[in-house]
Amino acid sequence: MSLVVFPFKEEDLAVVGSNLANAAGHSRIEEVWAVSAGDGDTMEAVERIASEVSGAPVRVFPQERMGRFRPGKGDGLNTALRLAAEVGFDRVHIYDADITNFGPDWIDGAEETADRGYYIVRHRFPRAATDAMITWMVTRPALAISFPGTILPRLGQPLGGEMLLTGEAVRRLAADPRVVERSDWGIDTMLTYATVAMGLPFWEHHIADGKRHALYGSLDEIRVMVVECLDAVRSLRGLPAPTTTLRSDPPAPIPEDLKRTVAYDLERTTALLTTGWTAAEAELAATLPMADLVMRNRERPFYEFLDAETWGVMLGDLLDRFVLGDPVWESLAFRLWLMRVLAYTTDQARLGYDAAIAYLESTIRYYEAGADHHGSR
Ligand code: LAC
Repeated sequence: MSLVVFPFKEEDLAVVGSNLANAAGHSRIEEVWAVSAGDGDTMEAVERIASEVSGAPVRVFPQERMGRFRPGKGDGLNTALRLAAEVGFDRVHIYDADITNFGPDWIDGAEETADRGYYIVRHRFPRAATDAMITWMVTRPALAISFPGTILPRLGQPLGGEMLLTGEAVRRLAADPRVVERSDWGIDTMLTYATVAMGLPFWEHHIADGKRHALYGSLDEIRVMVVECLDAVRSLRGLPAPTTTLRSDPPAPIPEDLKRTVAYDLERTTALLTTGWTAAEAELAATLPMADLVMRNRERPFYEFLDAETWGVMLGDLLDRFVLGDPVWESLAFRLWLMRVLAYTTDQARLGYDAAIAYLESTIRYYEAGADHHGSR
């Protein structure tokens, strides 16, 4: 018997309603849980929608305080994992509540893969060339630096919250202190490491249509996610390198409209480079590699120098020194990430989808090779 979990906060209710209905209506699904991180109003609205869904029962409940970081998505997933381990579901699916193209095929793909003996099935999916900028500029490069030669930097969506876990994997995650403490956006990174490190049979299931979700205006909207994901991947350093083998579905053609999608507002994002500098941030910036180039952003946007090579040096420094919760470090790390995203967006991303993604993949191989040459950190 399988459970589907949707963590949610403030969402488009029509999208959530359709996702709940798709999950509850699936013949393999015994129960659906919507775990709320939001206020009472949103939860009540989702409860109303859930009561009209037919099929498997849908339970809507608030997340508990489980971890020690900012109370966020991690508390929601950890609440669900603990309860699911207690109930003893055979399989647990997890999906973000905001996927606009979620349908029975996601569940089918994961269930059929689990039927073939895989304990962990992660969905991977194409995304627009300027989407997934934390994945491409923080998580995968940092995994490449810290765990070269393993499957960690090669996973398509290390921040993707879409997966199937068998009961065995759920029990192990619910008992893993590093997972349980991670109450914020860092949870996806910790789940990725923990599920790979278990050494259980592992499969990436390909969703050819991509994961469609609301995109961003200014990248300021994901500021908190950037710094929390940076901290999470930083916290993995020094942990054992996993030996799990990567098995995945073959690649499929990329939908044409996805190739044309622009994922964020360039002008509003560029404006963020020069705003909000404090004396303390300038002082900290002065200690960075290429400090003089970074600090030009106090006057005007300046980011062309932050190519893959330079970013490798900068990210290495951030992995050594970044402090989550320190507003000066958070502001500076976010600004550096913006500079890297803008450098890529105004250069390689302009070459079109295929060239842009090939370039991004080549940067990950470059970071993996660099770690070999310079000794693994
Ligand atoms: C990522 C987030 C931004 O994958 O969706 O980078």
